[in-house]
Amino acid sequence: MNARLTAEPARSVAGAPQGNEPPARVKPGPPLWLLLELTYRCPLHCVFCYNPTDFATTGPELGTDDWIRVLREARALGAVQLGLSGGEPLARDDLETIVAEAHTLGYYINLITSGIGLTEARIAALKRAGLDHIQLSFQDSSRELNDFLSSTRTFELKSKVAALIRKYEYPMVLNVVLHRLNIDHVGEILELAQQMGAQYVELANTQYYGWAWLNRDRLLPSREQLRRAEQTLERFRAKAGQKMKIFFVVPDYFETRPKACMNGLGSVFLTVTPDGTALPCHAARMLPGLILPNVRETDIKAIWYDSPGFNHFRGDAWMKEPCRSCPEKTKDFGGCRCQAYLLTGDAANADPVCDLSPHHHLVTEAVETAARAIASGTSQPEGANQPKAQEHVLVFRDHRISIPVVTAAPARRADVPESG
Ligand code: FES
Repeated sequence: MNARLTAEPARSVAGAPQGNEPPARVKPGPPLWLLLELTYRCPLHCVFCYNPTDFATTGPELGTDDWIRVLREARALGAVQLGLSGGEPLARDDLETIVAEAHTLGYYINLITSGIGLTEARIAALKRAGLDHIQLSFQDSSRELNDFLSSTRTFELKSKVAALIRKYEYPMVLNVVLHRLNIDHVGEILELAQQMGAQYVELANTQYYGWAWLNRDRLLPSREQLRRAEQTLERFRAKAGQKMKIFFVVPDYFETRPKACMNGLGSVFLTVTPDGTALPCHAARMLPGLILPNVRETDIKAIWYDSPGFNHFRGDAWMKEPCRSCPEKTKDFGGCRCQAYLLTGDAANADPVCDLSPHHHLVTEAVETAARAIASGTSQPEGANQPKAQEHVLVFRDHRISIPVVTAAPARRADVPESG
């Protein structure tokens, strides 16, 4: 059942700070999107995973009762769209119980899964429980690269899961994360999706957080690869028509204006991580100085409206120049806070994707470095055929190991003016 959107205003902004007064609170609308990362456990080891790399800093998983309480509190506040992800959410034995409760509460429920663990018995139980939607991830069109990128033998299994999804009359929704090693296979990926009867395909270029950040210099494609992929996509669309809807998410690094990440932090998205930490975006855990609440101690209403972690990046009082005086700030909110932090060491800086940012060179240099590596052959973009050759340079996700987040904080350049 589809939950209905509430008619509350999306956001209203109080007055700007005066003198030494603290910034006036920005009153947000409800957290319409709730993402529950039920577990960090995952049978896959994807090199582009956005999960944190410093797993050792995370606590034990919430129990079923905690998740159900979170669902009730968030629904009472107006949450309507529910994503269940991880790690691999099917690793939780209580997934069906959580889905049943969410269905009773009136959420529209989307399971974001690798498919591993989705047996016929489980999909039948999830259907009975009221699951609305399944998004299945593939790593590539070829068994060899799919299995290499996830460090598992799962290609055949995923194909079987795709058949089960069709059998149980879910819309077939495929997600493939694109990067240097598979972006040249866009044509084959789309053909595979067509064979599987996909109605929706999301070709999502890698966003560089978490494990993808560790691997960025091996995953970032070249502009030429991106151009070829877009041409292939257009040819496919012209041939196949609109029967299969294709969403192509362009990589940030090739843009000159940043995305309105999360529609602004604390605006509509609320993520709860396996240990109960509540986040205004799925990657915000790494932002230093952000005091993040936990659903074990604080209810969702207080988290959403009153916690410092959710209020910090609301409004524009936190912004530095050039964002603060930029007319686009109400559209892009300064871009992605996590990207700004990883690239510049300061989450309050403009997202360096923006060509008005004094740090934009960090993005263009990364793109140039990728192009040079590919052109010189040191990166082996045809990695599909030689995955072994990549193995020693990529870091595979593993929740049993923990790697601290290191930013690319640049030494201040003489030509980069102080922002603030
Ligand atoms: Fe955290 Fe963009 S991913 S603000």
